[in-house]
Amino acid sequence: MALPPKIGVFDSGIGGLSVLREIHHLLPNHPTIYIADQANLPYGPRPITEIQAFSDRITRFLIEQGAVVIVIACNTASAASLEYLRAKYPDIPFVGMEPAVKPALEASKTGVVGVLSTRATAEGTLYKRLLERYAEDKRVITQIAPDLVRIAEEQSQNIPSSRSIISGYVRPMVDAGADHIVLACTHFPFLGDAIGEVAGQGVQLIDPSSAVARQTARLWSADLILVSAPNTYYTSGKTLNFQKTLKNLIGVEASVSQFQ
Ligand code: DGL
Repeated sequence: MALPPKIGVFDSGIGGLSVLREIHHLLPNHPTIYIADQANLPYGPRPITEIQAFSDRITRFLIEQGAVVIVIACNTASAASLEYLRAKYPDIPFVGMEPAVKPALEASKTGVVGVLSTRATAEGTLYKRLLERYAEDKRVITQIAPDLVRIAEEQSQNIPSSRSIISGYVRPMVDAGADHIVLACTHFPFLGDAIGEVAGQGVQLIDPSSAVARQTARLWSADLILVSAPNTYYTSGKTLNFQKTLKNLIGVEASVSQFQ
């Protein structure tokens, strides 16, 4: 029997849950399957070919499990592998993520915006193209922030050493006049309060996850019949830890299976 059609969502870890939360909100009756590749986290410092290989393996599994739309809920994996996956799986619609530089610049009064991202995102061609297109006469301050991925995974943003790391990344942007900070990594919305406190009032944080959920809804074909099925969760890391994270971060109580 055919599997119920699902929305597949993946990230290197907990970050994609910031996108999944929006998808659940917008499409509460669409079954989802989420994969956190925590055994290979972080993706940010890795070479593109390696990130492509991880993304490919996850994509194959998601398709086997009935995914008919796949959301790459990770800026890093999107930068490295969106085009590669689209070419390799032409029948599957993919939703990728890119730094929300355009809306940030459009809303900025100072003409200065900050972008927090991983190395692979900041050095990828997707980001370079975005800057060429939208930031010609504006100032974009790009801060590669690998420690924020770790802090988000640990949820350690409230301890003093984490606060000073966050401050070290964020203060220079604000001091340079940034009035918008783009969260260009899906882990970072889970640090939104801490980043917002350091940045201060008057600085807007830009999180594109609700726009990504809307794009997912557009790509779900109108011909597909919705079959009710539970949302499922996988990690290549520790299942019990991820189960707790699900509850703490997005209020979901569900068991988590091992992704090999
Ligand atoms: N959540 C991922 C992103 O959006 C990055 C985390 C990592 O480096 O693995 O870029």
